[in-house]
Order: sequence, then C-alpha cells, then structure tokens
Amino acid sequence: MNRILFAADCLDVLNDAEALPDASIDLIYLDPPFNSNSKYNLPFKGKDKTHKPVEAFVDIWKWSDRDAETLDDLGRDPRTRSLATVIKFAQTIEQMSGGRRSGTSLASYLLNMALRLQAMRRVLADTGSIYLHCDPTAGHYLKLLMDAIFGRKNFISEIIYNYGTPSGGRTSGKKPVKTHENIFTYAKKYGDHVYNRQFTPYSEKYMTNWFRHVDEKGRKYRTRSRKGKIIRQYLDESPGVPLSDTWIDIMALYGQSGWFPGTQEKENLGYPTQKPLALLERIIKASSNEGDIVLDPFCGCGTTVHAAETLGRKWIGIDISKFSTGLIRDRILHSFKYLNVDDIDLRGTPDSVVEARRLARENPFEFEKWVCGYIGAEGMFREPGERGADGGVDGVLKFFPVREGKKVKPEYAIVQVKGGNVSPDAVKALHETVRRYEATAGVLVCFGDQLGTVENQRVKATFSDAWGSYPVIQGFSVERLLGDEQLDLPLYGYKRRGAMLSL
Ligand SMILES: C[S@@+](CC[C@H](N)C(=O)[O-])C[C@H]1O[C@@H](n2cnc3c(N)ncnc32)[C@H](O)[C@@H]1O
Repeated sequence: MNRILFAADCLDVLNDAEALPDASIDLIYLDPPFNSNSKYNLPFKGKDKTHKPVEAFVDIWKWSDRDAETLDDLGRDPRTRSLATVIKFAQTIEQMSGGRRSGTSLASYLLNMALRLQAMRRVLADTGSIYLHCDPTAGHYLKLLMDAIFGRKNFISEIIYNYGTPSGGRTSGKKPVKTHENIFTYAKKYGDHVYNRQFTPYSEKYMTNWFRHVDEKGRKYRTRSRKGKIIRQYLDESPGVPLSDTWIDIMALYGQSGWFPGTQEKENLGYPTQKPLALLERIIKASSNEGDIVLDPFCGCGTTVHAAETLGRKWIGIDISKFSTGLIRDRILHSFKYLNVDDIDLRGTPDSVVEARRLARENPFEFEKWVCGYIGAEGMFREPGERGADGGVDGVLKFFPVREGKKVKPEYAIVQVKGGNVSPDAVKALHETVRRYEATAGVLVCFGDQLGTVENQRVKATFSDAWGSYPVIQGFSVERLLGDEQLDLPLYGYKRRGAMLSL
C-alpha cells in the first residue's frame, strides 16, 4: 500500500517493526509540538462564534513519576545513556534558572521527543534524511538530542524557515518580532544520503548585472572563460542560485504577505500550525526521489502527505488525533481526483461496527472526534469532564445548497454524535439546537440499532435547493458511515465539493 494513515501515538507505530520495518523510510519530516505551553484549537467558522472550538492538540508538558522511571531506564541502557544526560542537563538548567517562565516541563517534553526520535532512527534508510521542524523555544535542546541519536557527523544543516512578517507586527513586548522557525536536518549516513540540488531564481539585480548580453534571437547570456575559451552561459539554461539554508522565499511563492501560512490560500484548512505545501515540496524534492517513502509522524492536517502525493512519492502519515486522519483523508481525496477511498489505508480508527462500538464505550470523546473527522465536519468538542459545554453540538458540517439565481454560499448542519442509546427526546432537542444556532439542518449519528428511536421522533420539516429536497433533521448510522455512504445533504464533503467545483 502506497498511502497509509495511522491514527495513533507515533511512538507505538515507530516501535512496531511490522508496521514500519527497519530502514524502510527514505525521508522523515516531523513538525511536532514545540513545547509552546499552549493549546491549539481548530477555528470554528460557523455563524455562531461563541462556541468552544475543537481542541486539536495540547502542547503542555508536566513531569510525572512515569517520566522519572523512563529517564532512569534510558540512563541505565548504554545505548541511550547520552539521551538521559541531555534530558538531565535540561532539567538542571530548568531548576537552576529559577523555575520556568511557562508552566510546561522542558524535561518531560524532551523525554517524549527523545523516545520518538530514537525510534525514527531505526526506520530511516541508510540513504535517508530526517528534517526536524522546531522553533527557538526548545530547538537548542532538540539539537543536542539529534546529535546524540543521529551522530554529529551526520548533521546536514540547520534551515532557518522564515514564515513572513506577522500582519501588523505581532509583537508581545520587549523583543523583536519572531519570524522564523528552525529545521534541523540529519542523514542516517552523511555522504550516502540523497540530495537533489535545488535552486532559487536569480534576483533582478543579479540578472541585470551579469546577463548583460542579448543574442540575435533575443536570449540573454553572460560570457565565461573555460579552458582558455570564451563561452556563453544563457540565462534560460541557468539553474538559478543554489538553495541556501535560509528560506525567506516560501511565503513569497504564495504571493502573499499574511503571517499564517496559507491564510488567503485555498490550501488553508484552518488547522493550527498548518505548514505551507511549498515548504514540504521543497524538502521532499531535495531529499527523496520519485517512488520513495516519506513519513510524517506528526502529520497534523496532512501537508507532508499532500506534497508527497503531488510529487509521486509513497507516504505514511501518523497523528494521534482521530480527527486529523479523517480530515487528511478528505483533503487527499478532494485534491487528487484519481484516488478512491480504498487507495488510502486508514489504520487505528474503527473499520468495523464492533471496533466503533468499542471506541464509543472506551473513549466517547475520541469517538465523537472520529465520527466528525470521517464525515468531514469541523469539530466542536468538549474537553473531557466538561460535559454540556458544547450545548448539544459535537460538530458542524458545511454544505453548499445551489439555489436558482443565488451565489453558492455555505450553510451549516449541526452534528450530534451518540455512541450509546438515543433518548426519546433527542431529535426534538437537536431540532431546537439547529434553530437556536440558525443552522439549516441537523444530523444525528448513532448506531443502527438506535435509528428506530430517531425514526419514531421524525421531524417532517424539509429544506430544498435546485437539486432536491432534504430533511432538516436526519439520523445517520455508524454502519452507513463505515460503508462510506453519503448524508442526505446537498454538496458536502470531498465528493460533493468536487462536483461543486465543476458547476
Ligand atoms: C504542529 S502539528 C503538525 C502540523 C502539520 N505539519 C501540518 O502542516 O498540518 C503537530 C501534530 O502532532 C500531533 N501529535 C501530538 N503528539 C503526537 C504523538 N505522540 N503522535 C502522533 N501525533 C502527535 C498533534 O495532534 C498535531 O496534529
């Protein structure tokens, strides 16, 4: 299988030699949490902005007894002793520097990263490279870990990735505005690693100063002396400036000045910390060849796997969030029309009713996330323990009714997910929620054996567009969801969005 998505902690997958055999990966790019002491939410783009948005991931670390035990284990094993040394060193600095400015534990973060980076070395091919995306918050400690794991002699470069100037200069006090992140690149075996030289365009000034001559066909050239002969170097045959380790041009490739990658671009999915495709395309082109396998163990909304698909690489994405893998599947199927649902191997999420029931029982919160990701809804999840904070809304699904003479504009369906029994007044309550939030429709997702209860409370109201009439409230079973059946809504999800584009 050329395209695999795992909804799992990457450590579990990286330690599974059957899922990822030794030396099987040609390129790893990872953009893990940066130890930013923040929670990252998906923005809700519905009408009502007062709701708590879905929490995509949390980047706050607390030192635990389990961390202490793991650190001891690392220190005892001669192969990982240097990692324990780096982590203890960071711990000492944290303690000596009079406590942390933030509430997050650097040592816990580094320990978690060390285990995963160590496991990544095992799966990397001898000709492979790893790109670790981080920022100055903990980058200098991560580099020590990378030296300890991959070896100083295998260090390739530190790329300074400038993501543009925050609009309005997002400065928070007495320091220059932050505009860059760091990408540390290492080879498994320096010298054997794949590197396809990349070039950036010459500046106008360079072209004017150096390519001053024009031949009879109008082609610009410069003259050079080679072995005593004068030869012509044509501008249109010149590759450009060899790529440097300071990347200030990625946002310029988008022709925009917005600070958040892709905000004004169609590739923006609203996923926090989403990276631009141009960044990943550059990395993949430079450090892999067509047909190679690219792995992103913290794949977020799937920028790496999207770029890998564009460039004809095989790909594996891992993300701990069950929402994320559903979102990526949607993104990939929407972007590459030659792919079908079966072309993407989705692992770690239920693929049978029995597994779906188990997830609903063991982790109702993840069950809600999985359902919403799968049907293409933006999530609005409660945090565990915050029951009721969602006001009866688990997700919001955007769809596009086509109405005669009117511009196609998105409308919204409220999604409610029930992993257990559906109560006799559930439909009425959902209808009420739909009205309260001025949404157009409501979808109640439950297991098939509960659909009868939904049917019994049927709401007759419908709405229509140029293509048909649809129920305002509909029940949808997990069984149908697993069968990749569609909701009775106009133009939603990747299949219908595809249709919409050709309207
Ligand atoms: C900074 S985001 C990655 C964004 C990504 N580069 C993109 O362009 O969409 C980090 C991701 O790591 C995921 N994550 C956090 N801990 C993880 C773990 N232990 N295993 C796998 N994924 C994890 C989070 O859910 C989040 O989606």
